[in-house]
Amino acid sequence: MSYGPNDVVSTRQSHLTALLLGPAVELRREGESLVVAGEVVEIRLAPAESVEGWIREIRQGIVVDESVVPTFFAPALGALIREKLVGCVPVGWGRAAGRADTDPQPDPDGGEKFARAYLDVCDEWAKSVFLSPFWTAFHAGTMPSWQVFTFLAQLYFRTAGADTHNLAAVERCRDGLIRPHLERHYREELGHATILREGLLACGRGGEEALAAGPQPAMRAFIDSMVVAASEPLRYLGCYGVFHAPWTVRTESDLMAQFEHFTGMYPFAGKAFAAVCSHARLDYALGHEDVVLVRLAREHGALALDAAGVLSALQGARTAAHGLRAVFDGLQGDEHDHGRQRKHTAITATV
Ligand SMILES: [Fe+2]
Ligand SMILES: [Fe+2]
Repeated sequence: MSYGPNDVVSTRQSHLTALLLGPAVELRREGESLVVAGEVVEIRLAPAESVEGWIREIRQGIVVDESVVPTFFAPALGALIREKLVGCVPVGWGRAAGRADTDPQPDPDGGEKFARAYLDVCDEWAKSVFLSPFWTAFHAGTMPSWQVFTFLAQLYFRTAGADTHNLAAVERCRDGLIRPHLERHYREELGHATILREGLLACGRGGEEALAAGPQPAMRAFIDSMVVAASEPLRYLGCYGVFHAPWTVRTESDLMAQFEHFTGMYPFAGKAFAAVCSHARLDYALGHEDVVLVRLAREHGALALDAAGVLSALQGARTAAHGLRAVFDGLQGDEHDHGRQRKHTAITATV
């Protein structure tokens, strides 16, 4: 039996055991056990008296505890623990959070360690988005036109919704280091959805009807979750490592080749795909593929951090991956088989 990184990963380092649950993991109670069900593996946690507590603890997907269960290993979490991620934070955030001088000494390389480990974790979790059966059908090139247009329309609603949560993030941010980045992104991103809307309208009736149908419930829920995350700057910034995953593949020519391929499969939606590509290139030119959390970590070095800040960022990433997965599952509906598709695309890197 193998354990997929999007299921349950855990590792032990002397006194510390951490358990990270991938964003697609479901929790349920079965008799006296808590069942943690992932894409590839299921585990049961006992004893019974701890089940309710476990459910509360791991609802957010991340547990750091001395008494956790088995010892699985996954590269992403391995990096997290090995690099003592829960001990690094960019300089300035600690002061903003009112940290005491007696707190642990900073790791001089902590910013870079944080950046790489965080991006690795986000890449792992973003994979769960592309495990949705939607992508199997989409990449097969046989998806009906109404479904392709519905998908493209959801990208429009997602981008339009970004204006809402980007503004909320600015208005609620009290961190002087983070706020200018949020303001800049809000200003630069504002109105980009129009590009996608015009592309859909240029496709004629199919695009018009998909726009008129409005956002699907999972997309509404996703935008709502981003508005909620906007109340916590680190949680909010933490989401973006997932949107821009994978961090190792990020060139404009890759983007263009990808959308040309999509247009080849679905020529009736060519103008809409071209619009998505134009938007992606515009964001690329604006540097939006640059993850702010990572930039701050690299620019400001590291300082000992309370675990809450790092966990907040990771919880944001997990929430984002979970929400996007639900969007694509919603697009596919229930009628398709649940074949697995691990192909990464940059479709989420367009906000
Ligand atoms: Fe953007
Ligand atoms: Fe944009």
